[in-house]
Amino acid sequence: MADPASPICCPTVAAIRAVAAPWREAGERLALVPTMGALHEGHLSLVRQARAQADRVVVSIFVNPAQFAPNEDFSSYPRQLQRDLDLLETVGVDAVFTPDAAVMYPAGFATTISLQGPAAAGLEDASRPIFFNGVATVVAKLLIQVAPDLAIFGEKDFQQLAVIKQLVLDLDLPVLVQGGPTMREADGLAMSSRNVYLSETERALAHLLFTSMQKIKAGMAGAGTVASLIEAAVAELEQAGFRIDYLVLRDAVTLGQWQGQSAGRLLVAAWLGKTRLIDNLAIDGRGLPGHSKE
Ligand code: PAJ
Repeated sequence: MADPASPICCPTVAAIRAVAAPWREAGERLALVPTMGALHEGHLSLVRQARAQADRVVVSIFVNPAQFAPNEDFSSYPRQLQRDLDLLETVGVDAVFTPDAAVMYPAGFATTISLQGPAAAGLEDASRPIFFNGVATVVAKLLIQVAPDLAIFGEKDFQQLAVIKQLVLDLDLPVLVQGGPTMREADGLAMSSRNVYLSETERALAHLLFTSMQKIKAGMAGAGTVASLIEAAVAELEQAGFRIDYLVLRDAVTLGQWQGQSAGRLLVAAWLGKTRLIDNLAIDGRGLPGHSKE
């Protein structure tokens, strides 16, 4: 393969549409990977997944104010465009869509998408009531602006992925939504742009979020009930200094109660100091020893 070329930077909707038009005309398959920048290996893995399935790959970088509550980290969210562009060059991206807030939400902007279903599962939505309205609105806009054949989102944000699949289904958006596996640090901590907020001590503890879910999963093959395994994990995490928003086992598709037969998902959100971390882990359905013990 030739050396990856510098991606074209498109700060406006007209620019990204002009760049994508000849690709579409030539019948090329276009994939979009939406991000808020501060890219890490997790984002890059989604780009590689896109690259493997499409002729052209667009990455969007937009720190979306509509998905941050006033008390959240919008102003301090890491912004490092040049570093992001350099990283994207190494994985081979055709264009980077970099709208600013005035492009995405021009004066007079008056429409947001309102949601039910997986967006009202009582998980992220319980702690962050405006979050998914902001995500759904910007993702719908990005999908309409770029008009990709394929859009890739990380399983790291498992409820977000479910919300976007539902959005695309309900609005008949002509795009295939695909999930990508969670990339982790060597100790198991899910990569996240927000991990930079962790102090050294917190960083050393943060992997417990993942290992406690692995312990629950392993315990489900043994004698413990799901409820008692979760209770023990919560106690262990609290002992280590986490403040738990939720640690639950849900149906992997609906995010409703897990019935045991279908695929399940452990989902966790917890605070470590001033940093809120989320993670999740797949739980097999039918055939799993102990699946009916919840
Ligand atoms: P952001 O947090 O930048 O994440 C961009 C994409 O990268 C999301 O699909 C997210 O799930 C994925 N991702 C994050 N960490 C990952 C990891 N460790 N492994 C694999 N994928 C990972 O999620 C958003 O931005 C925004 O909400 C967005 C969808 C762009 C809408 O504003």
